[in-house]
Amino acid sequence: MCRVICLCNQKGGVSKTTSTVNLGVGLAKEGNRVLLLDADSQGSLTASLGFVEPDDISITLASVMMDIINEEDFKPKEGILHHMEDVDLLPANIELSALELTMGTVMSREVILKEYIEMMRA
Ligand SMILES: Nc1ncnc2c1ncn2[C@@H]1O[C@H](COP(=O)(O)OP(=O)(O)O)[C@@H](O)[C@H]1O
Ligand SMILES: [Mg+2]
Repeated sequence: MCRVICLCNQKGGVSKTTSTVNLGVGLAKEGNRVLLLDADSQGSLTASLGFVEPDDISITLASVMMDIINEEDFKPKEGILHHMEDVDLLPANIELSALELTMGTVMSREVILKEYIEMMRA
C-alpha cells in the first residue's frame, strides 16, 4: 500500500521541512520505501538532504509538472535523487516559482501534482 502524506502550511518557519525530513527518514528506517517531494521553490528540503545547489538541478518538481502540462513523453522516475538515509527525493528549485505564475491559466491545474504522484505509485 502506498500512502501520500502532505505537510503544508502557508506560514514559513513552522517546521514543514524539518518534519518532512525526519518523518521520511523515520519511515524509511521502519522499512518503508519513501519518496520525498520538495514543493518549495527555495529548495530547502533538497538542500537539507545535501543537494546544496538546487538551482543547478535540471529535473525537478517544476520540470515534471511542466512535462505533464505540455503532455510531453517523460520518464517519471528520471531525476529522482537518492539519499544515504534511504529516502528518495524529487528536488525543487527556483523554477517552481516561475511555474506558479504559469499555472494560473492551466486547465485542471489542481490535479497535475496528483497525476505525477499517481505515476509514481504505479
Ligand atoms: N522541533 C523543532 N525544535 C526546534 N527547532 C525546530 C524544530 N523544527 C524546526 N525547527 C527549526 O525551525 C526553523 C524553521 O524550520 P523549517 O523546517 O525550515 O520550517 P518551514 O519548512 O516550515 O519553513 C529551522 O531553523 C529549524 O531548524
Ligand atoms: Mg521549508
